[in-house]
Amino acid sequence: MLRNKTIVLGVSGGIAAYKAAAICSKLAQAGADVRVIMTESATRFIAPLTFQTLSRHDVIVDTFDEKDASVVSHIDLADRADLVVVAPATANIIGKMAHGLADDMLSTTLLATTAPVLVAPAMNVHMYAHPAVQANMETLARRGVLFVEPGTGQLACGYVGKGRLEEPEQIVEAIHRFFMEKGQLRGKKVLVTAGGTVERIDPVRYLTNDSSGKMGYAIAEAARSMGAEVTLVTGKASLPVPEGVKAIHVESAQNMLEAVLERFPDSDIVIKAAAVADYRPAERAMQKIKKNEQEMTLTLVKNEDILQTIGRMKKHQYLVGFAAETERIDEYAMGKLLKKNCDLLVANDVTQEGAGFGTDTNVVRLYDKNGLVKSLPIMTKQGVARELLTLIAERTTKGEGTN
Ligand code: PMT
Repeated sequence: MLRNKTIVLGVSGGIAAYKAAAICSKLAQAGADVRVIMTESATRFIAPLTFQTLSRHDVIVDTFDEKDASVVSHIDLADRADLVVVAPATANIIGKMAHGLADDMLSTTLLATTAPVLVAPAMNVHMYAHPAVQANMETLARRGVLFVEPGTGQLACGYVGKGRLEEPEQIVEAIHRFFMEKGQLRGKKVLVTAGGTVERIDPVRYLTNDSSGKMGYAIAEAARSMGAEVTLVTGKASLPVPEGVKAIHVESAQNMLEAVLERFPDSDIVIKAAAVADYRPAERAMQKIKKNEQEMTLTLVKNEDILQTIGRMKKHQYLVGFAAETERIDEYAMGKLLKKNCDLLVANDVTQEGAGFGTDTNVVRLYDKNGLVKSLPIMTKQGVARELLTLIAERTTKGEGTN
């Protein structure tokens, strides 16, 4: 699993730095190419020579200690990494990461890398619970940084509580899991819809909804990082298209229907996170409508239900619908799943704090034809996307999804 993988191991300055030697050793034994970067303070707890011996590579501490004139080392390492692991991560390095500071080799590399980052915090219980540290970690989690939470127990400072670096075996296990999940959708073509549709009334006015696209974009990004070939059919959303994802921009439900139908036969997994308008104006005025009358009646006609249409057509495809509900969640979710012939349905109760439209987090329940499969706690939309895709990957590997 780790053969030919370059893992940059960042060691920051806490007493748990000695445990990073075991992480380094286990990763190197598993075949990874481990490159260690230490902060100046980490070198006070454990000698660079330990990591040099275990990784069989020079350990970098000083940004300006450029040993190879043909490359700029922090950029070279940042580019080469398949994964950057920071263990132990002190409150200080977490703060620097959250605020984009780059004043040493480790923080500079972390800012320069586009590789996924996994952070294993370790610090005093009160430092860990401090709102500033918690806010910094939330910021990083929203950006997709992965965490191995610290354990609870006797801390080096004498306190008992949460803050102890997770055991090296658990951290290495999380790294294995990361690479395993990364390839779980290799060879699969995933079609995702996101954002809200725009139904024009006249050249300057339209009907739409509050969808920001965050949920669908997070799914597209996670599917890409799990190895899938991803097409994102996106309505209104002001987000950058995730790297490596092919985006088709559409406006109305009708445009979205056409884009989905064109790509559906060739897709393996279809995930419909978009908020599609159920109705559109019966007529679209070619000129701006003038305000002559006291009242104006807008006649709406029903849009075709895209999910239901492809639900009827599906052959080998694994079909996942979403449902934004405000009441009787289980009942409505199951109703939609069966009516639209979905394999899975993701329901969000949009009345809940931190769930639904526009938020960075979501609270979802996943259903299949037999009922509730999983109820997830509040988590970032990136976290929801990973949980959802892991379940889909497990189920499609077992051959589910065929009619
Ligand atoms: O974009 P965000 O701000 O991150 O918000 C995320 C979200 C709340 C939009 C998302 O989590 C969500 O719930 N998406 C579905 C919203 C919705 O329109 O639900 P619905 O119950 O109206 O539709 C059920 C399903 O049918 C959806 O998969 C929808 O894409 C699909 N549908 C609906 C109408 C239609 N004409 N065609 C469809 O395909």
